Amino acid sequence: MAIDIKGPAEIERMRAAGLLAAATLRMASEHIKPGVMTGFLNKLVHEHTLDHGAIPAPLNYNGFPKSVCTSINDVVCHGIPNDKEALREGDIVNVDVTSILDGYHGDTSATFYVGEVSADARRVTEAARRCLDLGIEQVRPGGRIRDIGAAIEDHAHAQGCSVVRDYCGHGIGRIFHTEPQVPHYRFAGRNPRMREGMTFTIEPMINIGTWKVDLMSDDWTVRTRDRMLSAQFEHTLLVTPDGHEILTDWAKLPGSKYDS
Ligand code: MF3
Ligand code: CO
Ligand code: CO
Repeated sequence: MAIDIKGPAEIERMRAAGLLAAATLRMASEHIKPGVMTGFLNKLVHEHTLDHGAIPAPLNYNGFPKSVCTSINDVVCHGIPNDKEALREGDIVNVDVTSILDGYHGDTSATFYVGEVSADARRVTEAARRCLDLGIEQVRPGGRIRDIGAAIEDHAHAQGCSVVRDYCGHGIGRIFHTEPQVPHYRFAGRNPRMREGMTFTIEPMINIGTWKVDLMSDDWTVRTRDRMLSAQFEHTLLVTPDGHEILTDWAKLPGSKYDS
């Protein structure tokens, strides 16, 4: 199947969805502190999304029970928020927001510090943040999908960290997860060229120990096999004539209709 190319009208809708996802993530982040329940973060994201005329994509997606993913410490991704799980001083927590606005998806996540965190927690989190930035720098028409993973893998390894292989970035638009698959490591096999008008996510999951992961019995929560720390950041990108545009960039919020 060919990778979808968005036209100008669709790009405008992707921009709006991306901006709303960014605003929702920023709003949730303002509530992160010790004692806050992940279920409360879910409620905030759910209500903020509906208040802006959008739908939280995770809710009922393949049976996922909540409106946002909250992944603490050794949880790699797809943590299920609940009303009994409190954030604790020293935790790192990834909040992953996906909004559907006017039929189009915006998908973004970030890892936050809960109070003061350990040197290891900072190392893996800052490595993941930089991995996303370095992956984004590779996005341009004519470039190859593998360039993204290569840049990410090199930085992760230089920081003494590993890259999760079981979950990848993904094409996004009317559909939440579609082609291309965007691995965060060097891979063999299909390696499409990026073209103007493609939209996809980059969302490296970076571990301080082994890259291997385990799926928990709830069929969603993914943990590192060695139960050491994992951090993740995610943006939705558009390939533009001269490079890329970050559709979920917080820096674009001031003055926009979602800046509240
Ligand atoms: N937002 C995740 C991603 O980046 C997917 C979450 S699927 C869910 O692709 F069902 F767990 F919400
Ligand atoms: Co995603
Ligand atoms: Co996401």
